[in-house]
Amino acid sequence: MRGAGTGDTRSPLGSRSEGYTDAVIDKDNVAAPGTAERELLDEIDLARLPRHIAIIMDGNGRWARQRGSPRVEGHRAGIASVREVVETCARLELDALTLYAFSVENWKRPRFEIVTLMSLLKEYLNRELANLLKNDIRFRVVGRMNELDASVQKELAKGLAGTSSCRGMTFNIALNYGGRTEIVDACRSLAHDVGAGRLTPEQIDEETLGSRLGTAGLPDPDLLIRTSGEMRVSNFLLWQIAYSEIWVTPTLWPDFRKRHLFEAVLDFQKRERRYGGVIDEGRAADSGESRAEAGRR
Ligand code: FPP
Repeated sequence: MRGAGTGDTRSPLGSRSEGYTDAVIDKDNVAAPGTAERELLDEIDLARLPRHIAIIMDGNGRWARQRGSPRVEGHRAGIASVREVVETCARLELDALTLYAFSVENWKRPRFEIVTLMSLLKEYLNRELANLLKNDIRFRVVGRMNELDASVQKELAKGLAGTSSCRGMTFNIALNYGGRTEIVDACRSLAHDVGAGRLTPEQIDEETLGSRLGTAGLPDPDLLIRTSGEMRVSNFLLWQIAYSEIWVTPTLWPDFRKRHLFEAVLDFQKRERRYGGVIDEGRAADSGESRAEAGRR
């Protein structure tokens, strides 16, 4: 998937294992030496990065309103944040980044806003394809892509085909996406297979259902970020975020930059992930492992 030291060397529970060395990630390529971002990056344990980060990009409308501009100007400004976050996550060699760009509920917005959002998306894909390729990023869409306008589907198809041989980070855009819709579609697909005799009901388990979701083959998000302060998951990756750590920032999406991403990762690294289990304090202390590592067992 990527340079030696990543991929298989990570533990299955949300971070790279001990065999991983910082040497693989070129820190200078992630944040320039001597900058405030670099100071934050230096605090991050690169061996324990989340494998998959999911982001609810919120606050574009408020950002625009604060400036007396139309809502769509917030979406336009949000593209710069998308670009910076995608590139930074790829350089940190995450397995996956999923951005919530348009929900099944967003069709209720004014037509002009929807049309502008779709144009911005097409423009982004058109402009960014070369950069995605340069960073070895594989582009994917989660959501009901077939219900989108033909011109959007065409641009998405170009991005999908153009990056299909990339082996670095997978960049998912959630478009016309709803967590419940996704689960319904997965159930329908399983029901078809049962009806056709290809699968028995008893063969259906979490793994088979997960394999019918848009994120099939990727680890579940370890970290879910939401901007603009709202404490909701808004129908985003409902199945996949069962054990995600959630980090909410008051920062509005168009203001979100690398340093916010680093702050989220630093906070993530302080969490105890227990997955419903308990921390064995004694064993952790004897072996010298951290409470967080003990929780991951
Ligand atoms: C939520 O803010 C944001 C969205 C519904 C769209 C996000 C889209 C982009 C940043 C641009 C296109 C994306 C890609 C991946 C190229 P809001 O409008 O709900 O904000 P508000 O809550 O302040 O009104």
